[in-house]
Amino acid sequence: MPLDPPLYLDACATSPPAEAVLAAMQAVHRQAWANPSSLHGFGLAAAEQLERSRLQLADLLGAHSEELVFTSGGSEAIHLALLGVCSAVPPGRLLISAIEHPATVAAASQLQSRGWQLEILPVDSCGTLELEALERLLQPPTRLLSLIWGQNEVGSLQAVEAIGRRCRAAGVLLHLDAVQVVGHQPIAFAELPVDLLSFTAHKLQGPRGIGGLLVRRGLALDPLISGGGQERGRRGGTEPVALAAGMAVALQLAMDRLNANGGRDPLAEPRDQLLERLLALPGLRLSGPDPRRAEPRLPHHLSLLVDLAEGQPASGRSLVHALWQEGVAASSGSACSSGAAARAGAVAPSPVLQALGHGAAIAASGLRLSLGPWLSLQDLEAVPAAVERALQRLRNEGSP
Ligand SMILES: Cc1ncc(COP(=O)(O)O)c(C=O)c1O
Repeated sequence: MPLDPPLYLDACATSPPAEAVLAAMQAVHRQAWANPSSLHGFGLAAAEQLERSRLQLADLLGAHSEELVFTSGGSEAIHLALLGVCSAVPPGRLLISAIEHPATVAAASQLQSRGWQLEILPVDSCGTLELEALERLLQPPTRLLSLIWGQNEVGSLQAVEAIGRRCRAAGVLLHLDAVQVVGHQPIAFAELPVDLLSFTAHKLQGPRGIGGLLVRRGLALDPLISGGGQERGRRGGTEPVALAAGMAVALQLAMDRLNANGGRDPLAEPRDQLLERLLALPGLRLSGPDPRRAEPRLPHHLSLLVDLAEGQPASGRSLVHALWQEGVAASSGSACSSGAAARAGAVAPSPVLQALGHGAAIAASGLRLSLGPWLSLQDLEAVPAAVERALQRLRNEGSP
């Protein structure tokens, strides 16, 4: 019997908005709907509401409120970081890792076409940046490193403090894509040797359509969108006041959960239990860092490589479909790349799994399960049996 109601284990794709987030946004839509740039009382109320959200978010991230630029989400924040910083200086060399989100790859290739030299840094079989390769390139003309802090597909976390210190010593700017990290561990931007940090609301039960970029004070940044001079001239357009309020509530809820659990994400423990039970099933093995060996991994994230039989990798896409028939929502790799592959009608090997050293067939057999606070321990109890049934369904169909 499929699970009813179905379980949502795709937090890294997006997450259901929290009730408190919806309530806060509704109140702001009613009371502070005006344009924050208007000079009348309606506008002032909206401006005050927006600045309250900015202060709250900056405070929760250990940043100064003037360092926070609201964007439409993570992809825009990443583009603003890379294109905004790089268009303010003469072309040089830009470094990214081999396991970046497609938004970073796209922004980097725009810069390449504007005369920037792009170098892609390798990772090891766990998805950890190879520091020697980085060190060799931390010299002129390198100006910026953009790095995914928590990898959405394989869960690897980078040693950002050590990397940031090396960048600082070499005079290289560092941007972190922290989209999967914010809300899952405490962050003190003021203390991090990092210049820019991107995040988004919808991964932490906030609204879709808003995110933010933290920009270290004094750093020159050209806007992607100009116009009315909003966001201190760094992003034109009337600000989404209600979305900003929703994002602030979402991050507050996430930080409250962390604080109530000694700064650690309470999802790590159920994730570890689920992992152990899944690895007991035939044909499943872990990809990315191993939390049982204390290798740094996103606490709510679990990724597997799946074989239907000895040496016969499953199609991650087929498995996601079969799992949904069993009442479990999951992903194969990242939501955006699986969507693109589905439209092309192909079983696309994941470039991220390939960067970790896997061949094409294994790199198309990825399964990602990601947890959120809407799931109870009892919910998770049912997952291994559902995975087993989905695998059996594929074996019966003789599906690759
Ligand atoms: C690591 C990472 N970076 C960036 C993004 C893009 O964020 P958004 O969907 O808010 O544009 C995502 C979302 O999938 C992500 O997982």
